Amino acid sequence: MFVLSVCCLVGIQGGHAATEGSAIVCAPVGQHSAVNVNAGDLNIFHSASPPAHEIRELAWLVFGISAGIFIVVEGVLIWSIIRFRKRKVDAGEPLQVFGSNPVELAWTIIPCIIVLVLTLATVRTIREVELESAPAGALEVDVIGHQWWWEYRLPAPSGAIVVTANELIVPVGRPIWLSLRSADVIHSWWVPRLAGKTDVIPNHLNHTWFQAEAEGTYLGQCAEYCGNQHANMLLRVRVVSVEAFEMWCAAQLAPQVADASGVDGRALFLELACMNCHAIDGVSKGAFGPNLTHLMSRETIGAGAAPLNPQTLRAWIDDPQSIKEGCNMPSLKLEASQLDAVVAYLLTLK
Ligand code: CUA
Repeated sequence: MFVLSVCCLVGIQGGHAATEGSAIVCAPVGQHSAVNVNAGDLNIFHSASPPAHEIRELAWLVFGISAGIFIVVEGVLIWSIIRFRKRKVDAGEPLQVFGSNPVELAWTIIPCIIVLVLTLATVRTIREVELESAPAGALEVDVIGHQWWWEYRLPAPSGAIVVTANELIVPVGRPIWLSLRSADVIHSWWVPRLAGKTDVIPNHLNHTWFQAEAEGTYLGQCAEYCGNQHANMLLRVRVVSVEAFEMWCAAQLAPQVADASGVDGRALFLELACMNCHAIDGVSKGAFGPNLTHLMSRETIGAGAAPLNPQTLRAWIDDPQSIKEGCNMPSLKLEASQLDAVVAYLLTLK
């Protein structure tokens, strides 16, 4: 019973360590940057959204019941060891007991009641966490899991669709309804402080929701093993004010500002294989990799594998495998001058 309960608790917490102030461990980025962009709170007990509150309360209930069982069982065990230890004076054979109806009934009925309580509490939590349809006034976001990054499609206030990757920006206080699909294998969308894990399955639509109560950056992690860069498939949800969200949407929908520093790089982007995989509004339509239209508005590169800055961007394009080994972006073996031009162009994608 105790083992079962503890397993339940661990199951809720997930296989990944989630302790106060813990950081998601990401691939070493060497000398590229000393800043750990993935330092953040992944603690399910620091919930900041209704589904996460429900999960936290259930986790405490299961933990409390388990702790009670542990104390009773271990207490009786220790008491028995001391009380009935072998003594110097042999007391002879102990009293032999052959069954006891009250005792048998007690240790049958009490565990049944405990299991019933845990079942009812779990069912209630599932009903609160898994809504049948989008809550009223929800912002409806499409989430597509890819090896190993996240694609987001969400409607701006104007109705136009913003396409972005790896960093979801949402307004504070508004319900967010996620429709989750996968482009390849099974992933799992999990931002511990906002909501529980939801599997992202090929050819199957799943939903989850959250409603962040405070502004800030909420981190998460793909929670279903999905290949060798599963650990570098990190989640970032930036919760901002309604005004900041509207401004962000407008900026994401704004056309590229032509910048002389990007002219050569833009030509190279179209000449090389880049355009086959990456979309840039008005430039290319690739859909295999993240949309780069407003790349520089993001905080990380490679779904959290490294912070995004000119140095890491150059290292990434030079050889993505050095930062995220096994990822689907190849090294194009560019010459230094080509590399500089492509980086200069990408830096204009603000
Ligand atoms: Cu995607 Cu693990």
